[in-house]
Amino acid sequence: MSFGLGNGRTLEPGTHGIKADTFPPLPDDINARQDAAWLDPRQWFTDPSKRFEIEIGSGKGTFLLQQGELEPETNFLGIEWAGEFFAYAADRVRRKGMDNVRLLHGDATEFLRWRLPNEIASVIHLYFSDPWPKSRHHKRRVVQDSFLVQAHRVLKPGGELRIVTDHAEYWQWMEEHFDRWTTPAVEPHRATPAPWQRQPFNRPASAGDGEVVGTNFERKYAREGRPFNATILKKN
Ligand SMILES: C[S@@+](CC[C@H](N)C(=O)[O-])C[C@H]1O[C@@H](n2cnc3c(N)ncnc32)[C@H](O)[C@@H]1O
Repeated sequence: MSFGLGNGRTLEPGTHGIKADTFPPLPDDINARQDAAWLDPRQWFTDPSKRFEIEIGSGKGTFLLQQGELEPETNFLGIEWAGEFFAYAADRVRRKGMDNVRLLHGDATEFLRWRLPNEIASVIHLYFSDPWPKSRHHKRRVVQDSFLVQAHRVLKPGGELRIVTDHAEYWQWMEEHFDRWTTPAVEPHRATPAPWQRQPFNRPASAGDGEVVGTNFERKYAREGRPFNATILKKN
């Protein structure tokens, strides 16, 4: 399906866009060797030594453009599996000549699971993640126990998973998942301290007046008057 995002113009990701289907295939013994397909996305940036953050489901790339401009000392990788949104966002950052923002075309949960080394990122942003409201589609939601395990592995100690959603039922699902991983005595995790702690959401500097983050979906839903829920999971 085409959303006509180029408005008649061909979208050009250039070197600002990376495609996951160009990565080497996962080896047959990947389950025995967790690190067999790891790669280092920090090398995709002009200065790989900068602090590194990830946005999952970056859509049109508005958060990356806004925050990337205010925070040039941080490299931001947006991961987007819809080809046209990936191309649109990568084309935007390429035209702005931003050397601290890159877009990856692929499935973010697969990328975290198989490709990312331990303790590489300072923040993972997840804003207005698709709610997949039908029960039979819940397995497609980004937030799952397995995702929280991988996000925890990929974040540096003290790193943050930052979440905002408009969807009440998905929020309830998230809170049930967060409770399992922030309460030490509750299964499936009995470690002390718990792997994560909850913190109140603080707005990024790029959020506009009255905005929580200022993504495209936030602006659209704010016009509809929808309430939002937001939180930070901080890695212990
Ligand atoms: C509702 S939109 C929100 C976009 C943007 N974060 C915003 O707030 O404007 C969700 C986006 O996440 C993308 N997405 C959902 N699951 C994904 C996954 N597993 N990997 C990469 N992108 C994903 C969708 O294609 C879509 O662009």
